[in-house]
Amino acid sequence: MSRKNQTLGEFIIENQGEFQYSSGELSRLINSIRLAAKVVNHQVNKAGLVDITGTAGETNIQGEDQQKLDVMANETFISTLTNRNIVCGIASEENDDFITIQGQGEDHNNKYVLLMDPLDGSSNIDVNVSVGTIFSIYRRITPAGTPVKLEDFLQPGREQVAAGYIIYGTSTMLVYTTGHGVNGFTLNPAIGTFYLSHPNMTFSEMGPIYSVNEGNYVHFPEGVKKYIKYCQEEGEGRPYTSRYIGSLVSDIHRNMIKGGIYIYPKSSRAQNGKLRLLYECNPMAFITEQAGGKASDGFTRILDIKPKELHERVPFFCGSKLMVEKAEEFMSNE
Ligand code: AHG
Ligand code: MN
Ligand code: MN
Repeated sequence: MSRKNQTLGEFIIENQGEFQYSSGELSRLINSIRLAAKVVNHQVNKAGLVDITGTAGETNIQGEDQQKLDVMANETFISTLTNRNIVCGIASEENDDFITIQGQGEDHNNKYVLLMDPLDGSSNIDVNVSVGTIFSIYRRITPAGTPVKLEDFLQPGREQVAAGYIIYGTSTMLVYTTGHGVNGFTLNPAIGTFYLSHPNMTFSEMGPIYSVNEGNYVHFPEGVKKYIKYCQEEGEGRPYTSRYIGSLVSDIHRNMIKGGIYIYPKSSRAQNGKLRLLYECNPMAFITEQAGGKASDGFTRILDIKPKELHERVPFFCGSKLMVEKAEEFMSNE
């Protein structure tokens, strides 16, 4: 249930009962993500000042090197969750291997693992374009009280208990799902509070936008090339308009609000495309399905793929249901 002026903190508490295992642990985890998001938001907002204040490439007061924003975001999320003893393991784009979290007092007793892309679209920072954070949460499958194992992280996306993203845009938003629809909260930076601004977000079945990096066109599979031409032809609602930011979070967020399809296909140069299954595609696919959209690799539902490794890549077709189905039709014809 949502109501006017509801804060994210209130929403988490009021909807805790929706979750089948509700013991408060997942709520505390989302609360910690909310806190880390505010810290990263502050860091991202200062990004343009780094050169002016002369700290880039220098050491700070503790003698540590000033770090790039994606390393800073990674450390912020890891330390926020670790300090609160809130998950038993974390996997991140920025870490080769997963991190085992030693609980304080009760060792390893936490039930959840978190996977994340701490800063998505980081090549856009230099040019003051929106970036994001993506997160995905599972219940561990190995017994509580033991160190986490790789298999806790390699679960198919349909097993996610929650997923979300933070978009550091013209305003900062946290959008998430626990499998009961998708809700978006906008940060009021003056008081550091997220308010429910986008209750029950949904993808329209069709939309006016297609989003793909057409610079790679010559390397795309025939099915994708033909689908792109279809998007550009006169027809029902077509030609579609082309919008591509190059920040997955921002591209999907816009398409969820306006309706559209996002494609990052495989190419002759990248056999599995570019995007990572575990902490980019799975969470975005869960959110998209919860919003009534569809996400596939061109043939198979993303959430049904059994992952083989932490950093594996997968082609990604995501967005308005009928548009994704049309693109799949082009793929299967080739
Ligand atoms: P990241 O910054 O986490 O490495 O992710 C970048 C990704 C994603 O955000 C975006 O959709 C995609 O890279 C853009 O890739 P191209 O520049 O190849 O289009
Ligand atoms: Mn990314
Ligand atoms: Mn990243």
